[in-house]
Amino acid sequence: MRSTANAPTGYGATAIALHWVIALAIFAAFGLGLYMTGIPGLTPTKLKLYSWHKWLGVTIFAVAVLRVLWRATHAAPPVAPGTPAWQAKAAAGAHHLLYLLIVTVPISGYLYSSAAGVPVVYLGLWKMPALLEKNDELKEILKFVHIWLNYLMAAVVVVHAAAAVKHQFVDRDGTLGRMLPFLR
Ligand code: HEM
Ligand code: HEM
Repeated sequence: MRSTANAPTGYGATAIALHWVIALAIFAAFGLGLYMTGIPGLTPTKLKLYSWHKWLGVTIFAVAVLRVLWRATHAAPPVAPGTPAWQAKAAAGAHHLLYLLIVTVPISGYLYSSAAGVPVVYLGLWKMPALLEKNDELKEILKFVHIWLNYLMAAVVVVHAAAAVKHQFVDRDGTLGRMLPFLR
């Protein structure tokens, strides 16, 4: 059975599960965000999708915090032998940035929602605290921040995924297999 911890040859079950659960949930929240904001008017469907987006985002935040804590206490497997130093540095930099973004993107959305004066009622059951007073100027700034942090994250994810695929299928050094064990 796959170990829950990381091994020298690849990530363990915990890191792999956290990686793919968060990646899939972020793709869903991102697509939903683009879709819901494109709906014209203020229809009940639009309001429902906004709520779902917020619940998903809050859930991603909670899992992302757990993931950062897990990573802080478990070293990543060493890079494949022969990896040029600049590539190892670029990958580590991108990974740090991604960890930062999976936490700050939901925080920016939450703060935007607070400044807009719209409370988050998690799963329609629990009213979560507003972290800011209603403030129209701040609301516009936070909306801008939420959108642009999202686009930054999308750009980093595209480069990150392209690098993983290139290493797997061009360099054939098994990088993708470190996160997708069935490719090993
Ligand atoms: C990782 C989690 C999240 C992702 C990937 C994400 C992604 C997005 C995207 C792509 C948009 C559309 C931006 C555009 O107009 O182009 C959006 C909008 C929005 N997000 Fe998020 N979001 C996340 C978390 C949250 C959270 C936690 C909240 C609030 C609790 C939130 C509240 C909003 C709101 C209110 C909008 C609508 C902005 C508008 O009216 O234009 N988001 N989000
Ligand atoms: C929202 C989407 C994604 C996020 C936030 C994300 C984030 C991360 C982070 C933070 C790491 C570093 C793990 C660590 O060392 O602690 C990582 C590793 C990895 N990711 Fe992603 N990722 C995403 C999507 C993808 C996709 C779509 C692919 C593949 C097509 C991919 C392939 C990999 C691989 C192969 C590794 C291991 C790299 C190595 O150390 O050799 N990721 N990812």
